[in-house]
Amino acid sequence: MDKLRAKVSGIHGYVPEYRLTNKELESLVDTNDEWITSRTGIKERRILKGENQGTSVLGMGAVQGLLEKTATDPLEIDLIICATVTPDMPFPATANIIAEKVGAKNSFSFDVGAACSGFLFALQVGAQFIQAGTHKKVIVVGADKMSAIVDYQDRTTCILFGDGAGAVLLEPTTENLGLMDALLKSDGAGENYLHMKAGGSRRPASMETVANREHYAYQEGATVFKFAVTNMADVSAEVMERNGLKGEDVAWLVPHQANKRIIDATANRMNIGPEKVMMNIERYGNTTAATIPLCLWEYENQLKKGDNLILAAFGGGFTWGAIYLKWALDYKK
Ligand code: UT7
Repeated sequence: MDKLRAKVSGIHGYVPEYRLTNKELESLVDTNDEWITSRTGIKERRILKGENQGTSVLGMGAVQGLLEKTATDPLEIDLIICATVTPDMPFPATANIIAEKVGAKNSFSFDVGAACSGFLFALQVGAQFIQAGTHKKVIVVGADKMSAIVDYQDRTTCILFGDGAGAVLLEPTTENLGLMDALLKSDGAGENYLHMKAGGSRRPASMETVANREHYAYQEGATVFKFAVTNMADVSAEVMERNGLKGEDVAWLVPHQANKRIIDATANRMNIGPEKVMMNIERYGNTTAATIPLCLWEYENQLKKGDNLILAAFGGGFTWGAIYLKWALDYKK
């Protein structure tokens, strides 16, 4: 029997309306458009406003749109996996909430937490259910409301992050398409450089943790930068090499959008020209688990069936990885 693979049979994204510009950030912290643009490539990010609006609102926007676009009955969905570090609440899982909101009554659902590499980790997990032959329609959604955990008094982090979600539908195929290979890594020693200090079981919320502003993302930017460039490029190069791919065989590099300088350095190391690198960081900033599916969504009309894509990410944990995906869709309006 031909090998069963998981192909992406649909992609959709969702971003909230509100645009937080560099200009507006200038009124919140001591920064300026020139510094932000030259050091990160970011011009604006989307922010989900309003009371009681959690990550599930973003995830639902992406999943609902995906179901409509692919004419899929929500009752046919077997599994929904949500990659996020900003769940609506510690429990239940945000994936459970999304499943309920879109009417996926027959699916089971759970969250995956791998920070900025979350979408890649969840994609590989979802693909396993397809490849095992036990599940036929799996949705993987990367969704983060980073504005909920960003300290708008900390100029080193608040300029970086935004809110958004992107989702893919995975289905089985026996064609030589879909998820071809994955190389995923993690190293808990990275904890010190990128984390949220309080709000978990080690340091539950208290008056003190709130007063100390410990419920926000903390990052030692320069250290993370260094690890991100090396590790993202290393795994991408290894995945290309073990699949016999050279720079010219890769149609697109789809990198996590954390910093334009990290993306450029990774592409350079992989010998891939800027014209083949997906980038939308200038409009969305770093949306954590949503960056990669948001890129795929926005570049969908330039993708052809059979295109070789390398998806690459680096983030909190540390976690990092690269996935070789052979695109299975010819774009239809
Ligand atoms: O997605 C998860 C993984 N995360 C990442 O991959 C992010 C990795 N890190 C980065 O992207 C970069 O390190 C940052 C964009 C966060 C910072 O850029 P940097 O070039 O590494 O700057 P730096 O932290 O070394 O700071 C350089 C200077 C400092 O001033 P002094 O000490 O040289 O006087 C900072 O205080 O820039 C200052 N600075 C700012 N100035 C204006 C830091 N943030 C700002 C700001 N506006 N927003």
